[in-house]
Parts: sequence; C-alpha cells; structure tokens
Amino acid sequence: PRVIYITRHGESEDNALGRIGGDASLAPAGVRYAQALARFIDRRHAEFGAEARGRTMEDDNSTITRERHPNNDDDDEPQPCEVWTSMLKRTMETVESFDPQRYHIKNIRSLNEIYAGRFEGMTYAEIARNFPDEYEARQLDKFYYRYPGIGGESYADVVLRLQQVIVELERIRHSVLLVTHRAMARTLLSYFMDIPTTHMPDMELPLGYVYACEPRPFGNFLRVWRYVP
Ligand code: F6P
Repeated sequence: PRVIYITRHGESEDNALGRIGGDASLAPAGVRYAQALARFIDRRHAEFGAEARGRTMEDDNSTITRERHPNNDDDDEPQPCEVWTSMLKRTMETVESFDPQRYHIKNIRSLNEIYAGRFEGMTYAEIARNFPDEYEARQLDKFYYRYPGIGGESYADVVLRLQQVIVELERIRHSVLLVTHRAMARTLLSYFMDIPTTHMPDMELPLGYVYACEPRPFGNFLRVWRYVP
C-alpha cells in the first residue's frame, strides 16, 4: 500500500532554546533521531518492497505465482518511496542518513515552517513580555492570526501555501516521507485525517513522532510511532 509518512525534523539548536523559526542545525539529540528515522523507513520500505515484488499466493489446492510478463517488470523493484523536506537546514539534516540511491530526496520551499515575521528567533515568553497584544491576539484566533512584519504568516496562509504540495501528493502513486515542521505537520495531518481547522493549530505534535496515513476506501487510516531515545 502507499503510505504518506509525516514527521517533524530532529530536535534543533533553536528547539532546545525554545526559539521559534530560524534556520538552526540539529542538536545532538536531533541527529540521533535522524539516524533512527532512516533505519525505521529502511525497514518499512524493505517490507513494502517484498510485497510489491509479490509473494506466492497459496490456498488449499493451488499455488498462484507471478507470471513473467513485461507489465510486471516494475513490480520487481521495491516500491519507490520519495523523501520530501523543506529548504531549512533542520529538515535537510534529518534526512542526511538516507541512501540517495534508494530514496528520491526533494527539498521543497513550500514545506518551510510558518514564518513568524518580526518574531522569528524569539521565545514565546519574549513575545508575551514585549508584545502582549500580539501574543493575546494569537491566543484568541490562532488560525487567522498573521505574524507582523514582512512575510509574516498565519495558519490560513500556510494552508494556501501547501495546496500545491497536496495536489502533487494526491497525484503520485508511491509512498512519501514528509520531513517537515510543527505547523506544517499539523496542516498536512489535518488535511489527510479530516481534522477541522478550528482544532488544527492546537494539535499536540511533539518531536520524535512518525504519523503514517494509509488510504482506505472511506478516508485514511492513521498509524503513529514514537521514537524512544
Ligand atoms: O517551535 C517550533 C516551531 O516549529 C516554530 O518554528 C513555529 O513558529 C512553531 O513551532 C509553530 O507552532 P505554533 O503555531 O504552536 O506556535
């Protein structure tokens, strides 16, 4: 089956300090998550590969084996899995241990984290102390609140920015691992799992989780894994 995996990058230096936005590198714990993630996807991908290659189907009386046929050639390869990251260092570093021979890796700007405009690099406490009205406004309407300053975004903006990515995800047939950021992961998960926009900006979505959306006839089925260091 095709799977859309969604995860956040490994812990960054900014996460460790509680700063939002920015373009920091991974902290040591984040590098360890990155390595675990590559092993995890490798294992899952190998399983899917075996499925795609086809096993012998057996029942009581008969054995059905894969026929040698030109149409089957593609199936002999493991099912492809693409890896999409944002263009920020913390997601690109999270996929550094993936074998580029086995995974097609794409860096996509639209997967960058929500842009906090003038508040990039601050902690929530600093924003609350220095800009209490802005802080309050975001608490009151997190979906539509747009960060001040050039390029500042709201969740509503992010939903628009992700539309093309979602169209592409719906179009292609193989599995994709999306290594992205908290607001983006919320937006993507809420799309695939039909979570209303009123809940979406407050979804718990800690570092170290992998969410897998698998298509079923009536909507997607969600599996969740947690990295235990
Ligand atoms: O703190 C990590 C982070 O990804 C920030 O870069 C971003 O601004 C924030 O989370 C998004 O979460 P929230 O919308 O809850 O502030």
